[in-house]
Amino acid sequence: MDILDILKSRYSVRDYSDRQIPSDILEKILEAGRVAPTAKNQQPQRVFVLQSKEAIEKIRGITPSAYNAPTVLLICADMDVAWHRTRDSWCAAPIDTSIVTCHMMLEAEALGVGSCWVCAFDAQKVIDAFDLPENYYPYSLLDLGYASDTCEPNPRHFERVPIEDTVKYI
Ligand SMILES: Cc1cc2nc3c(=O)[nH]c(=O)nc-3n(C[C@H](O)[C@H](O)[C@H](O)COP(=O)(O)O)c2cc1C
Repeated sequence: MDILDILKSRYSVRDYSDRQIPSDILEKILEAGRVAPTAKNQQPQRVFVLQSKEAIEKIRGITPSAYNAPTVLLICADMDVAWHRTRDSWCAAPIDTSIVTCHMMLEAEALGVGSCWVCAFDAQKVIDAFDLPENYYPYSLLDLGYASDTCEPNPRHFERVPIEDTVKYI
């Protein structure tokens, strides 16, 4: 399958079946994150797999965007490990963790697993609920599971602006 076909078939899944992702499938999704490029290859990503009843209840209490996903990945960066640009201390962690999340989202799609990228959460609540080390910052969640039989893309999924609006040849 061409990667563009995978990119175009993916949509944000917001209604899941009860079926958990088999562990070998989940391992492939996590492996896709492991091989992601990161600034200076510092690999600051720290990924927590939320699957226990307790962890899923916690995350659903923090954000409605966990929906009914049976697995939620919590993607953090170790800020002591992330690359900081010397001249101005700019930090690559949000980009690094986004690439990792994107890799995992697309590998999930390739394996028939639905996903939804989530940033609508209170970071401090996540830090407190999961007792994250003080140098960890939670950037994203990735809901994972099999789409329910009735799940459909949100109508906004189909709204993409023309390429001329976002790309300029200069
Ligand atoms: C960085 C980022 C944060 C997002 N946060 C949320 C979120 O908190 N809740 C949610 O339901 N969807 C969230 N989404 C999904 C977007 O709403 C969705 O990707 C966009 O509307 C396009 O729809 P599609 O994914 O179906 O193509 C997020 C997506 C990205 C890339």
